[in-house]
Amino acid sequence: MASIKINGVGYAVRTDPQKPLLWFLREDLGLNGAKYGCGIGLCGTCTVLLDGEPVKSCQVTVEEITGKEVTTIEGLDDELGQKVKAAWIETEASQCGFCQPGQVLTAAHLLRTTPQPTDTQIDESMTTLCRCGAYQRIRAAVHAAAKPEE
Ligand code: FES
Ligand code: FES
Repeated sequence: MASIKINGVGYAVRTDPQKPLLWFLREDLGLNGAKYGCGIGLCGTCTVLLDGEPVKSCQVTVEEITGKEVTTIEGLDDELGQKVKAAWIETEASQCGFCQPGQVLTAAHLLRTTPQPTDTQIDESMTTLCRCGAYQRIRAAVHAAAKPEE
């Protein structure tokens, strides 16, 4: 039986070990923040953090995450995560919202590793597709989240 930690809670997993993490989160745990877009690792709407690194949860099986720690949008509540979420609201970055959980998690990872990213670094890191084309607002939200506290 696999054991994994999701948003700080440990789970003993009794599901098919080959089940994609995305469907384990959505169907077994009711965590619907990660979205199904393409299912083939291209769009990034299913992005979660695995041991702090962004991964496409449609491409990772439950078996592959045994002993690891997953953070979904529902559990992104540390100081930086809250700052990123607040910046998203302040700048109204979201349009339909479908891609935004993946965008926010990716932004949190970017800002953890690069606290003051340039436009180029943002564009290179924020690879989740947005079918609404809200890329300018997403970039503005990352800059807002990167601003030092006054
Ligand atoms: S649904 Fe996973 S990358 Fe598109
Ligand atoms: S806000 Fe609609 S897909 Fe990105």
